[in-house]
Amino acid sequence: MALITVDESKCRRCGFCARACPVGIIALGEGFPATGFPTTIEKIEKGCITCGHCVAACPAGALAHRGMKPEECPPLAPGWRLTTEQVGQLIKGRRSVRNFRAEPIEPEVIADLLDIVRYAPSGMNSQTVSWKVILDEQEVQFLSLAVIEWLRTLGDDFPYSVKGMLKAWEMGRDPILRKAPALIVAHGAADDPMSSASATIALATLDLAALPFGLGTCWAGFLTMAAAGSYEVATALGLPPGHRMLGGMMIGYPEFEYARIPTRNPADVIWG
Ligand SMILES: Cc1cc2nc3c(=O)[nH]c(=O)nc-3n(C[C@H](O)[C@H](O)[C@H](O)COP(=O)(O)O)c2cc1C
Repeated sequence: MALITVDESKCRRCGFCARACPVGIIALGEGFPATGFPTTIEKIEKGCITCGHCVAACPAGALAHRGMKPEECPPLAPGWRLTTEQVGQLIKGRRSVRNFRAEPIEPEVIADLLDIVRYAPSGMNSQTVSWKVILDEQEVQFLSLAVIEWLRTLGDDFPYSVKGMLKAWEMGRDPILRKAPALIVAHGAADDPMSSASATIALATLDLAALPFGLGTCWAGFLTMAAAGSYEVATALGLPPGHRMLGGMMIGYPEFEYARIPTRNPADVIWG
């Protein structure tokens, strides 16, 4: 089967598919630039990253990719970009939530959330970020304890106040995973050079995508550090062989809402 198939009765020969292709494997046929139908350049076809830009850019639904038919790619709803005001409120209104209601999250809710997050960009469209979802509060607490045990082994050169965290733990608080009812861990192959950036982007996407679900999130930075530094913590996570934790997010229903947007530094920019 050809990599791309073009319905010539629909194709407007606009060339958007060729211009959208990030690896330049689509050319317009005879009569280039605008008179031919799109075809692939066979010699470089194997460079295709199956990103679907050729299908998505076609305004006529005329182009099908071997792995993606236009019928499988829903049209965008009008107004999908939202307004600068709406996006600004969402980004500025998001907070790291560290106070969660003791209320479990239904697995379907997390499944719906991850179904959105899977559209986050990934290096070369590799889509190699995997997830481990822990919905059992006791299991989350067990991981906090494993991090605390690791912190006990560290000297004073750790850049954060270990003493303060150990004291908080002894007083019944959880400075590691904040008694979150659930945890989402992003993981991927330890030898994949793109996976770390892709996972960070996926987690940042998740952080925002959780908001309309009424969920609050907080980056699990200490757990991520501990998973890299402690065999015991890495083992407790129970990730597949060859995989490592790439980042994580505490998640749950917030105990209270924030009423204002705190100030932040102005953007530090050098204009070229
Ligand atoms: C990479 C990263 C790791 C973080 N790790 C933790 C963490 O382990 N525990 C925590 O309470 N907050 C953690 N945070 C949250 C930051 O403290 C928080 O983003 C910052 O204070 C700003 O607050 P805001 O997110 O509400 O704007 C982390 C944030 C990032 C980006």
